[in-house]
Amino acid sequence: MSDTVPVPSERDLWPDFGGRAPLVPIRPLGAEHRDALRQHLLALDAADRYLRFGYAASDSRIGAYVDGIDFERDVLYGVFNRRLQLIAAAHLALPGDGSAEFGVSVLPCGRGKGIGTRLFERAAVHARNRGVACLTMQCLTHNAPMVRIARRAGMRVHVSGSETDGVLQVRPGTLRSHLDEWLDDATGGIDFALKLAAMR
Ligand SMILES: CC(C)(COP(=O)(O)OP(=O)(O)OC[C@H]1O[C@@H](n2cnc3c(N)ncnc32)[C@H](O)[C@@H]1OP(=O)(O)O)[C@@H](O)C(=O)NCCC(=O)NCCS
Repeated sequence: MSDTVPVPSERDLWPDFGGRAPLVPIRPLGAEHRDALRQHLLALDAADRYLRFGYAASDSRIGAYVDGIDFERDVLYGVFNRRLQLIAAAHLALPGDGSAEFGVSVLPCGRGKGIGTRLFERAAVHARNRGVACLTMQCLTHNAPMVRIARRAGMRVHVSGSETDGVLQVRPGTLRSHLDEWLDDATGGIDFALKLAAMR
């Protein structure tokens, strides 16, 4: 783990999800959040970096990954704590060929509360509304929480040794799914604004 990155504690979560998180305020991230994303990923320890990227990501590899994100093409989502530290982040890569690939990380202080699941659902709704036909995910086979998220979302899961691929055929968007997305974005925006106001 990088020495310079403060690791948020469970105390910093707000609202206190008290176990599961039925409503997780999720905010779309823009290029202005690049540094917050960098801090978030640098706060992952070596084992979590391996789970997230599938290789031992050094600080400089993480920096290159973050700097290379095209926020115009791809979609990123974040969950902020009350100190506006990014405790969870998801990256939906959209290469433009009708597919999308999902990657996610939740800091240890926020795990087991449904945040990873909600980020997947949020990304899947966006993929649906963007006309994506196929949503994919890659993880290590021993990554039990991620495999659980994939299976519960209805992904077709293919295990090949230490690697597991998940594929979800995405249903076409509906008026309801567009409304859901709009409401989620509004909730995430209001939550962020309230936390910002509380910090000032
Ligand atoms: C994978 C990760 C994102 C999950 O985040 P999370 O917020 O803890 O996920 P959730 O709380 O939504 O839990 C997901 C499911 O896994 C289950 N789970 C959690 N820990 C588990 C474990 N050790 N064994 C089996 N299942 C487990 C949870 O119970 C939940 O299932 P449920 O809803 O049926 O109870 C998080 O652990 C993480 O960031 N890991 C490091 C990076 C990584 O692996 N990224 C994925 C690569 S794309």
